[in-house]
Amino acid sequence: MAEYDRVVRGGTVVTGTDSMRADIGIRAGRIAAIGESLSGTDVVDAGGLLVLPGGVDTHCHIEQLRDGGDADEESFETGSRSCLAGGTTSVVTFSNQFKGRDILTPLADYRRRAARGAMVDYGFHQIITDPTDAVVHEQIPQIVAEGIRSLKVFLTYDPLHLDDRQYLRVLAAARRTGALVTVHCENYEAIRWRTEALLADGRTAPKYHAWSRPPVIEREATHRAIALAELVDQPIQIFHVSCEEVAEEVARAQARGVKVWAETCPQYFVLTAADMDRPGFEGAKFMCSPAPRDTAEHARMWEVIRRGTLDVVSSDHSGWNFEGPRGKRVNGAEASFRDIPNGVPGLAARLPLMFSEGVAAGRIDVNHFVRLVATNPAKLFGLHPRKGSIAIGADADLVLWDPAKQVTLTNALMQQAIDYTPYEGRTVTGWPVATLLRGQVVMRDGRVQAEPGSGQFLARGPYGMIRPRGVLPDGFDAARSA
Ligand code: URP
Ligand code: ZN
Ligand code: ZN
Repeated sequence: MAEYDRVVRGGTVVTGTDSMRADIGIRAGRIAAIGESLSGTDVVDAGGLLVLPGGVDTHCHIEQLRDGGDADEESFETGSRSCLAGGTTSVVTFSNQFKGRDILTPLADYRRRAARGAMVDYGFHQIITDPTDAVVHEQIPQIVAEGIRSLKVFLTYDPLHLDDRQYLRVLAAARRTGALVTVHCENYEAIRWRTEALLADGRTAPKYHAWSRPPVIEREATHRAIALAELVDQPIQIFHVSCEEVAEEVARAQARGVKVWAETCPQYFVLTAADMDRPGFEGAKFMCSPAPRDTAEHARMWEVIRRGTLDVVSSDHSGWNFEGPRGKRVNGAEASFRDIPNGVPGLAARLPLMFSEGVAAGRIDVNHFVRLVATNPAKLFGLHPRKGSIAIGADADLVLWDPAKQVTLTNALMQQAIDYTPYEGRTVTGWPVATLLRGQVVMRDGRVQAEPGSGQFLARGPYGMIRPRGVLPDGFDAARSA
């Protein structure tokens, strides 16, 4: 009699630390054995392939609610399809707050949408744009207790940005409740000031997006975000670091023992500011914040990855189409860079791009790749050991990966709702040929077969990694009474 429901046989199993030839035995959706000559009711042949933990994307915008009742073009169903096509099995997406309003009402709506459509497992970050007394003292404690254990704040963007006092209030609320704070770091006033000057000078094209926010603007906000987190003794993650000079701010704080982590995204390894200078409106396809830099910066970013300063690579997948009245042209085809929505799609491209540029190009080893796209994000966001690794008892979320397969990226291969990929025509080495979620084969040779609503909500309880250090100036814990 077969010992396991399913066996993945004959592959090279890769974790964040080891690679070994082994079979994986799956029982009731979990990894029950890693060994030799395992027998299963069903056998998935992994001969010649790598067997990786399912990707964990802890920063992606899927079906995010927009003010006025609309949501992103990328729904939980289409976003899940794209994730599975690209080897990602868990996501952490964003529930929004609209200024002047509560966080509970949109969260309830968002949870319903995810429960209806998701085909990957999912958790949420809660965006805080208006930290009123009710939000920080009543609503944040309530949602953290429900398993939404990370808060997201923006230090720029109208109408999302927080000033320093508001940011401190969110840090304090997170400290009191045991949540992680994630931060979009760019200086709001400096961007406004430069943008006004650029527009007054007639510089309106998409390429001036990068001119409006040079690296120093990201570096200043990163320094401030870390300093204020240090003041409160609250762990944070810096989102989407685009360049070495920003990573250096993170490294300096890490060297002091501050609990600060930082993610980056594939766009900062393959896109450049010059892409935004493509003819006509085409440059809008490459507009995201922080802005892509240049090819010399890509090389410096790989150094930062190798040093371990940046330990998570997420997609920052954005839900804006290129064509149509709700996408990048929402303010018209003649809109200035200020009025073009930011963000690039990348759910399915994340693993292939980072494997190709990282492992196939010889810049990192495959274990480091696994740490960046699966193990580290799972650990930082309280999903490990259930997610992000290949270990006894973990969910059997696996990707069978062909390390030699060359694929030229097209938007059709991304299997997303968004109508373009900024990586169109780029050839990658390394490709997912099958994806398993909790032991079920949900993608094989590009065909996704999963039921909308089959994704599970990942409630995240307390965990040690994000516990404050207990290091406060003067020992006074202002968060207790703030
Ligand atoms: O340009 C970006 N990154 N758009 C998505 C929203 C965000 O800033 O994370
Ligand atoms: Zn951001
Ligand atoms: Zn984002």
